[in-house]
Amino acid sequence: RAQWRGVVEEYRDLLDIPADTPAVTLREGGTPLVHSEWLSGLTGAEVHLKVEGDNPTGSFKDRGMTAAISVAKHEGAQACVCASTGNTSASMAAYAAKAGLTPLVLVPEGKIAAGKMAQAIIHGAHVIMVRGNFDDCLRLARELADAYPVALVNSVNPVRLEGQKTAAFEIVDFLGDAPDYHLLPVGNAGNISAYWLGYTQYADLGRSSRRPVMRGFQAAGASPLVTGAPVADPETRATAIRIGNPASWDLAVGAAEQSGGRFAAVEDDDILSAQRELARADGVFVEPASAAGVAGLLQELKAGESYTGKTVVVTVTGHGLKDTATALEGFAEAGGTVVDEVVDADLSAVASAAG
Ligand code: F0G
Repeated sequence: RAQWRGVVEEYRDLLDIPADTPAVTLREGGTPLVHSEWLSGLTGAEVHLKVEGDNPTGSFKDRGMTAAISVAKHEGAQACVCASTGNTSASMAAYAAKAGLTPLVLVPEGKIAAGKMAQAIIHGAHVIMVRGNFDDCLRLARELADAYPVALVNSVNPVRLEGQKTAAFEIVDFLGDAPDYHLLPVGNAGNISAYWLGYTQYADLGRSSRRPVMRGFQAAGASPLVTGAPVADPETRATAIRIGNPASWDLAVGAAEQSGGRFAAVEDDDILSAQRELARADGVFVEPASAAGVAGLLQELKAGESYTGKTVVVTVTGHGLKDTATALEGFAEAGGTVVDEVVDADLSAVASAAG
């Protein structure tokens, strides 16, 4: 049986990239749609998780990055740059390594999960920490790309969204139609915009009979799309979505409006508790930001929203191993014991410890 070829080759005729672009790929995409018995039981809906942590660098960013780096390489770029809260930089560094490009990463000082930082470093990126937040880093990355011969691969580069929209294609290909609802975390707002592009393209081609209602969830301390105005000092423990002025603002608002959907804010404590519940109930360990869609679904249920009888997809965007520190902090704060006990290496000691 042939191996999955990665999203550029699997969907090439549907992507707006030059037709002769060779794919720089790590065989990203083709991620599992995992049925959630837990969330289906709570909602009376069929709830599926699109598990994007199963991508090569552990987040959905690989879909857009294979496209962006393929095109940059094809156009003769030798270096690439991005601003990042961590995952984009991890992904760019890996694809740049594969393509033989020099990666330069701008990240907000002190606000990047250790796993993501390790990925960028180990893949060979030059990592520059900026005294500022993600929004400052993105402004600087744009200015750098304007002034120097370096390709900008943030999602302001439309090729990124071309790659990322393949997640919507996969969902429709698997379910046989678009779901009724699609819920996901929102930070810089590229992903919700890309899903909407993908769902719209498939509906226009007659490959689905409808488009889903899109519901995007931001962390309460970084929820400009909910308040309607940029946030100068975004704050959340879900560092991946600690963003005050999303670059794809207009596209994301368009997706919410055209789909009859909306944005809502979820508190950090609810994000971290959704992260733990998802891990315990469904066996899916995601990073904090990635649990914002699940936290959103639980919040809507509490508020009386009904999903009964519907098909719901929730994207969980990145792997739990990216940021074990925050996960374990949340576990301890909720009363969990992080290190159980140390015993001698004999059966009776282990048996009595195990209770
Ligand atoms: N979830 C995770 C794990 C992310 O890393 C991001 C964004 C999002 C959700 C939000 O997606 O920005 O398309 O709305 N991370 C970017 C980064 C900003 O630099 O890695 P979005």
